[in-house]
Amino acid sequence: MKLDDFKLEVYFNKYEFTAPYLLCQSDCQSMTIQDLLDFESGTEEDFKKSWLGYTEVEGSSELRQEIAKLHSSIDPDSILVHVGAQEAIFNYMNVTLNPDDHVICQFPVYQSLYEVAKTIGCEVSKWELKQGSEGWEVDIDELRSLVKSNTKLIVVNTPNNPTGYMLNLDEMKAITEIARKNNSYIFSDEVYKGLELDGDTLPWFSDLYENAVSLGVMSKAYGLSGLRIGWISTQNKKIYDKMVRFKHYTSICSSAPSEFLAVVALRNGEKILKRNQMIIKNNLKIADEFFNRYSHLFENNKPKSGPIAFHKLKMNQSADVFCEDLVNKKGVLLLPANTYDYEHDYIRMGYGRDNFVESLGKLEEYLIENGLEVELSSNKK
Ligand SMILES: Cc1ncc(COP(=O)(O)O)c(C=O)c1O
Repeated sequence: MKLDDFKLEVYFNKYEFTAPYLLCQSDCQSMTIQDLLDFESGTEEDFKKSWLGYTEVEGSSELRQEIAKLHSSIDPDSILVHVGAQEAIFNYMNVTLNPDDHVICQFPVYQSLYEVAKTIGCEVSKWELKQGSEGWEVDIDELRSLVKSNTKLIVVNTPNNPTGYMLNLDEMKAITEIARKNNSYIFSDEVYKGLELDGDTLPWFSDLYENAVSLGVMSKAYGLSGLRIGWISTQNKKIYDKMVRFKHYTSICSSAPSEFLAVVALRNGEKILKRNQMIIKNNLKIADEFFNRYSHLFENNKPKSGPIAFHKLKMNQSADVFCEDLVNKKGVLLLPANTYDYEHDYIRMGYGRDNFVESLGKLEEYLIENGLEVELSSNKK
């Protein structure tokens, strides 16, 4: 299996650990092991006593119990822990798809959600999010029209990376009905769940549909990407068992210290999520003022949920040239739309980090130093 480059990850690999101002990250502010252990007295001693042998392939029962509590109708035996979300995407696509299958995938989206299917040989149709007057939107009728007799799988990502669009319950039910009618599976990447900015929490697709697999992770809403703990949940036992057997060839099992720490984080999940929601909300307010000052350069597409947004550029240069110049001159990292195979000039911005104000200040310095403010006043005359 020869996969094409993962454009976004290649871009991050080039800049993420050298650029000082990360203004596009999709994971929320992280913390130290000590910060996490401080949530509960006594856990530090227990952590030091963690056994460093192999762990259960499915994930420890304690961890699966904590994850199951996030769902309304999923039991711990329907949770399969993975090394991050990425492993689960790769494994799911491999156990479910054959070369003559048709797959519909929401777009733009995180590349592995369609790339693995494409590499397996599937025909992949894009179900595009469109920018309407009220922000990003989906067209359920369009999804219906994309379905074919061999549509094996519908892939969604809600809240969506990069747009921050979140499907509402009616849309989730409509997608479920379309899939059920055609006997198709749903794979729903819900790694940004837990950051609903209007406080409205929705079920997971795996709670709604017997042939859905939902994907969750500690990396994004909890800001604990270094744990590399993700999971799938599904009521479909056949898929579950196939994924267990496939996992024997990928990671086998997760790291014991990570599983321990993920349990502590989930037991204190509400506090962590509240903290991260506050960071995002404060940063979004500050960004509003910035976008008001620079409305001639950017369209402010606020996220419905999650720590990222996809803003349209209104400049005379392409998003990739703008982003490269910005990171080279000021060390500010934004993500251009071409890393999503998206052929329009958009940039992804991230709102989940503590140093957002400082990074945004550097972006503003760049705009001023490059006369982009001046361009505004001369355009207005
Ligand atoms: C939508 C989506 N799915 C999956 C992943 C992979 O997550 P992880 O790094 O936890 O494997 C990401 C990471 O950015 C993502 O945005």
